[in-house]
Amino acid sequence: MAFAPGKVILLGEHAVVYGRTALACALDRGITATAERSARTHLRLEPWGLSITPFERGDDHADITLATEALLAAYGFGEPVSLFVSAQIPAGNGLGCSAAIAVALVRALDELTGAAHTADEIADLSLAWERVFHGTPSGIDTTIASRGGLGLFRTGEGFSPILARHPLTLVVASSGTTSSTKTMVEHVATQHARNPERVERAMESIDALARNASLAVEHGRLAELGALMDLNHSLLASLMLSTERLETLRGIAREHGALGSKLTGAGGGGALVALAVDDETARAIEVALKADGSEAFVVKVGAP
Ligand code: MEV
Repeated sequence: MAFAPGKVILLGEHAVVYGRTALACALDRGITATAERSARTHLRLEPWGLSITPFERGDDHADITLATEALLAAYGFGEPVSLFVSAQIPAGNGLGCSAAIAVALVRALDELTGAAHTADEIADLSLAWERVFHGTPSGIDTTIASRGGLGLFRTGEGFSPILARHPLTLVVASSGTTSSTKTMVEHVATQHARNPERVERAMESIDALARNASLAVEHGRLAELGALMDLNHSLLASLMLSTERLETLRGIAREHGALGSKLTGAGGGGALVALAVDDETARAIEVALKADGSEAFVVKVGAP
């Protein structure tokens, strides 16, 4: 059984697509996958009740079919294989579900073939899958899914792990609507085409916030990290990536003691991440968000 974690971007989504720095960490939950030789190639995605047969698709040009074919081709796996995926994270919530599926599948293929790809090789292979769902992935999702941990990512430079002075206690809450990363990235690209200076300025500011946030994490300055997350959210909202529901969830998190919060991932729905000073506050935020109908969970990241 192969595993790959989901991720949460603490600061820097979208800016990372424009070559800037993002701060992200792996979750303690994600995707498990298995691969077995079989008579025909088959992928079952258990949580969504989806079953597909790549290479026999007839008129099936669904992204998931194309992505499976692209992944198997990139891996160089030419024999029929039965793939099975189960998930402990929701899809379309900005928690890196798609990248974690790809990484878990590559690891499952490695278990089957006895190959031992490095984390960087696994992330690269997984991009074949990601490109089908979103044309210009920065690579942050596949990198975190393959490397795990907490750190800074920049396309071309890769991942630099950082050591948190204190583990971070986060509350992750679903806004109840999913969004397509591809659509949201295109939404920003349209604004960039219209007004490149404005969007570049926003991305440059987000880069500075992410770098400062990384120092705040290393030095255990939680209040500062929360404030930086709030500022990052405002910049993302200025790019029209927030929603009314995300703003409501932010209000609830703030009322119950969050040090800061922001949308995480592509936005336009998806999830909120809030920073709590301790476990008790995190529980209070989680309970309040759940009472408002949101699926929420507490996660600790950056523990040694
Ligand atoms: C998606 O998790 C993060 C985005 O920045 C897209 C990407 O980096 O490829 C929105």
